[in-house]
Amino acid sequence: MIAGGRPLRGTVQISGAKNSAIALIPAAILSETTVTLDNLPTLSDVAIYAELLQDLGATVHWNEDQMVIDPSRLVSKPMPNGNVKKLRASYYLMGALLGRFGEATIGLPGGCNFEPRPIDQHIKGFEALGAQVSTENGALHIQAKQLRGAKIYLDVVSVGATINIMLAASRAKGVTIIENAAKEPEIIDVATLLNSMGAKIKGAGTETIRVEGVDEMHGCRHSIIPDRIQAGTYMIAAAATRGDVIVDNVIPKHLEAVTAKLQEMGVHIFEMDESIRVVGQPIYESVDVKALVYPGFATDLQSPMGTLLTQARGVSIISDYVYSNRFKYIPELVRMGAKIKLEGRSAVIEGSKLSAAKVKATDLRAGAALVIAGLTVAEGITEITGVEYIDRGYDHLVTNLLNLGAEVWRSND
Ligand code: EPU
Repeated sequence: MIAGGRPLRGTVQISGAKNSAIALIPAAILSETTVTLDNLPTLSDVAIYAELLQDLGATVHWNEDQMVIDPSRLVSKPMPNGNVKKLRASYYLMGALLGRFGEATIGLPGGCNFEPRPIDQHIKGFEALGAQVSTENGALHIQAKQLRGAKIYLDVVSVGATINIMLAASRAKGVTIIENAAKEPEIIDVATLLNSMGAKIKGAGTETIRVEGVDEMHGCRHSIIPDRIQAGTYMIAAAATRGDVIVDNVIPKHLEAVTAKLQEMGVHIFEMDESIRVVGQPIYESVDVKALVYPGFATDLQSPMGTLLTQARGVSIISDYVYSNRFKYIPELVRMGAKIKLEGRSAVIEGSKLSAAKVKATDLRAGAALVIAGLTVAEGITEITGVEYIDRGYDHLVTNLLNLGAEVWRSND
């Protein structure tokens, strides 16, 4: 529930990146000894992943922002159902178990299903490394006597496929080259962890990644990068409420695309070493936004940005070139009075005044878009259902917003 209309003011601390965390946790099982992850976000997806590793026999201690994973007694057992279905990123167990044990049986992933999200490029990668892949009752069975390095060209730039192939290739014989790899900061984070565990990966963050397989990997300690999507969401919320917010514990370079777009609209932004101050303005100009792979504007910020563009004068066009149909938040915004038309993979957004309504979050980032919408509405109470989606990606959201001066509460609180 949100009683909006208050400018957000103050400082918000950004936690570790969700999309790194849920790749780093499974990556840890490639090690024979204890891996410690610091700066972990407190999220339901992280909790589910911890349980998944425990189900496989690992010892996991999770205390606030630190997780200690001892995978020495872990085994590769089939996981066709249960927790794997709750989490899209459970697909990283495929690459990690394949790398360590030469075998994995994992149920096809769940998670935020805003549109069909195939994993054909992951499978193509495993097969190129010499694995046999078959489907059995909704689960993928992947097996290899010996993984061998290979040259793999990804037909689609995919974060998940790039990471999954890095995981398996770390323990293959010989050298793997991934061409047309994704360049997201989370890829670099995973490569940094793997290298600290003894892997030999070069080129992460570029479109060509070279992985020289190693026979053994060992424990280490690693601090997760800040969550650029969470940070970008607070930046957009600060702008939308015409507030003044310092978004702290970020890597400003990871936020360049959103910073540039906000500035183009007329938002004032001040970058410091590890924080960004966003100062909202009374009038914003319309802009066109194209969601692209990194370093382009993140698709995960496309929906929050869609809400902000309702606050600009004139007509803006927002297009998503990563997911063509990630627009389920639009009908909900329209229920709040937004003037938006969908045309193919674009939304045409006319500046308009939003009003309070009962709306439904259909996925994580759609939920973030609706929270921002609610924060801008001065009269009445916006009620958002489906908040369990929002919990997947924004830890301490209510507390953070309260600290920034918002009036927001959970109806069961
Ligand atoms: N794709 C394929 N085949 C594949 C893999 C991907 O066609 O085998 C397509 C997808 O359908 C999509 C595009 O390639 O059109 C990019 O997908 P990608 O594989 O990069 O996405 P992902 O790894 O499944 C991660 C994040 C998403 C984020 C995307 C894009 C995780 C667990 N998820 O998904 O995060 O939107 O990268 O940056 O890391 C979120 O946080 O809300 C979220 C959905």
